[in-house]
Amino acid sequence: MGEKIAGLDVLGEDYFADPHSFHARLRERAAASEIVLPRGTRAWLVTRYEEARSALADPRFSKHWERFPEVMERNRIGGGDAPKFDESLVQHMLNMDPPHHTRLRKLVTKAFTARRVEQLRPRIQEITDRLLDEAGEKGDVDLVDALAFPLPITVICEMLDVPMDERDEFRVWSNVLVAGNGEPEQLQQAGAQMAGYLAKLVEHKRANPGDDFFSALVQADDEGDRLDPMELIAMAFLLLVAGHETTVNLIANGVYHLLRDPEQLAKLRADRSLLPGAVEEVLRFESPVNQATFRYTNEDVELGDVVIPKDSVVVVSLSGGNRDGARFPDPDRLDITRQAAGHLAFGHGIHYCLGAPLARMEGEIAIGSLLERFDLALTAEPEELRWREGTLIRGLQSLPVSLTPRG
Ligand code: HEM
Repeated sequence: MGEKIAGLDVLGEDYFADPHSFHARLRERAAASEIVLPRGTRAWLVTRYEEARSALADPRFSKHWERFPEVMERNRIGGGDAPKFDESLVQHMLNMDPPHHTRLRKLVTKAFTARRVEQLRPRIQEITDRLLDEAGEKGDVDLVDALAFPLPITVICEMLDVPMDERDEFRVWSNVLVAGNGEPEQLQQAGAQMAGYLAKLVEHKRANPGDDFFSALVQADDEGDRLDPMELIAMAFLLLVAGHETTVNLIANGVYHLLRDPEQLAKLRADRSLLPGAVEEVLRFESPVNQATFRYTNEDVELGDVVIPKDSVVVVSLSGGNRDGARFPDPDRLDITRQAAGHLAFGHGIHYCLGAPLARMEGEIAIGSLLERFDLALTAEPEELRWREGTLIRGLQSLPVSLTPRG
């Protein structure tokens, strides 16, 4: 890792090609190390499993949006203006501490029930089958475009009733906001467009409630407590973005690594009961959320062998924790039969991923159906593939493969 600012490692372009060796180097040094994020913010990166897990569950690491701009500013050592996000998009539960978080999570949990998720299974299978029919006709496809991207976005847009013809615009705004490394004006503009769009959607659902999940969210009631329109906009934003920037990478990263490891692929083909374990292992091995979202310290916090001072920005590396040999022996080896349970890919503690059961179901159906119907091979050299840039998400920009129907 080449560049340094103020003696600290900078997450530069080479980081995106291979974050794992960077995490490994830091992990050997200490439980957490100070680095400089791409926009010039000083942050502590936690790379060991035990400390990552305990930081995720520790209330001294705050996520509350209110003080966040101030703490970010305090830790800036690069030039340029920090982007200002649309307030209505920022105030969602992933950016809140208890008791606000507890209240919002309770309300959304009332709508996002296990039953509602399980009811989606036939529809997810149907969408997958249709996408695979189309991909099979072409033979040579980019699997991100053909399956990994459209499946989860179709599912979450159907859940929230976002019209089909507006999804392309939505993809552009969402990509800009999640990558977070565009120009400040670009980020602000995407935020404002997204907020305006969601405000209309919320209005529409309030006036025309149906049988869908979004209507259930609008009507979710906890002893008279409900989500107000602003909270609904923020919640819809969180669900749409979380539901569409993450599972795509579970599917594509998973297929990619299975194709690179013929022995593991053959094992999975020979015994379909290994599929749920394979999905867990892929989540561990190439975690779609590379780093949990930001936290900051409200006081000095001792974490393993370091003391993180008050008002520091803290980033917990889920990839780093998941590749820690102290927790997962031989961590850089994909092994679909290992006990990957306990991995941190969905986070840990009060912000543990709400969509985990849905993501797992989508991952299993997509990868399982693909392998059942096709023999497939990578049509590019691994070195030619490009990974997305941005520290939050770990995923391939494209995955070119050839598909041959199985007899
Ligand atoms: C939170 C990962 C899919 C909705 C999280 C967090 C992680 C994560 C790591 C915690 C972040 C933190 O603590 O800073 C993933 C991965 C997915 C996935 C790897 C796919 C493979 C989904 C889906 C949905 C979803 C499909 C919704 C339909 C959420 C929500 C939260 C969350 C609402 C915030 C929970 C809270 O603040 O209490 N996710 N996610 N996720 N995820 Fe997911």
